Amino acid sequence: MEYRTLGRTGEKVSTLGMGTWRFGAYHTPEERQSQVAALRRGIELGMNLIDTAETYSSGRSEEIVRDAIKGVREKVFIATKVAPGHLHHDDVIAACRASLQRLGVSYVDLYQIHWPDPQVPIQETMSAMEKLASDGLTRYIGVSNFSVRETEGARAALSRHEVVSNQVEYSLENRQVESELLPYCAREKITLIAYSPLARGRISGSVPGAVLQKYHMTPAQAMLNWVTRHEQVVAIPKAANVSHLEENASSISVRLESAEYDRISGGS
Ligand SMILES: NC(=O)c1ccc[n+]([C@@H]2O[C@H](COP(=O)([O-])OP(=O)(O)OC[C@H]3O[C@@H](n4cnc5c(N)ncnc54)[C@H](OP(=O)(O)O)[C@@H]3O)[C@@H](O)[C@H]2O)c1
Repeated sequence: MEYRTLGRTGEKVSTLGMGTWRFGAYHTPEERQSQVAALRRGIELGMNLIDTAETYSSGRSEEIVRDAIKGVREKVFIATKVAPGHLHHDDVIAACRASLQRLGVSYVDLYQIHWPDPQVPIQETMSAMEKLASDGLTRYIGVSNFSVRETEGARAALSRHEVVSNQVEYSLENRQVESELLPYCAREKITLIAYSPLARGRISGSVPGAVLQKYHMTPAQAMLNWVTRHEQVVAIPKAANVSHLEENASSISVRLESAEYDRISGGS
């Protein structure tokens, strides 16, 4: 596995992490087992970054993560998120404590604001985020779905800590961040965590067949290889079974040539 530095922290997170949206929503015990097994296999393969949120399946995604990290907590970097309805000071603290409980851990590595809420002053939210970090309940502070302007506001509201990451949608099918946010993150050394890097399962047919053949890659692997071509980006594909997980984990064992990245970007 390849690792990248988180923000300016010196902390190493895997270039490919694991998303867990809809984990905890299952119809059979086997489906639940499959979700836990996929995460455990990813940890074995060195994917240390696991992303979840208090809202995913009403907290049950965090419980799946709890089961997957039993006995290996020190090997993983847990990122969870506070919901936009919980951004007042005391609500942030309570939401974090509830997440810790569901995750079965005493701290999370990265605590992220899931979406901005213009109704709540960012200073109020950030004072709670700093308190959590100072009290050792979280290690790093991140945001999600923040524009450049909102990220600047969040950074300015912090006095003792930094915003180390911004989690936003980025895939071959959605490249909106490339115009402004990605260059900003690169300049400011903020990690861009790419969510829905497989376009939520709508695997792109736009990668040239010649590239796939040359590298013996599947289209999903090429999408993950392409989206992590920038040093500033790590991606968190979601895989609910070991076979998808293993396919994703091996997608960056070789890097395409830059002309091939350009060809994929250009769609020719
Ligand atoms: N911050 C935010 O607002 C936000 C929003 C959306 C998502 N996220 C985070 O980002 C993570 C990833 O995004 P996502 O879940 O929306 O979508 P995604 O990772 O782009 O795509 C997941 C879909 O792709 C399928 N898949 C996985 N590996 C595959 C492979 N090798 N070949 C073919 N299909 C494959 C999965 O199927 P199986 O499940 O059957 O394996 C699933 O249907 C989430 O789980 C969540 O942690 C954050």
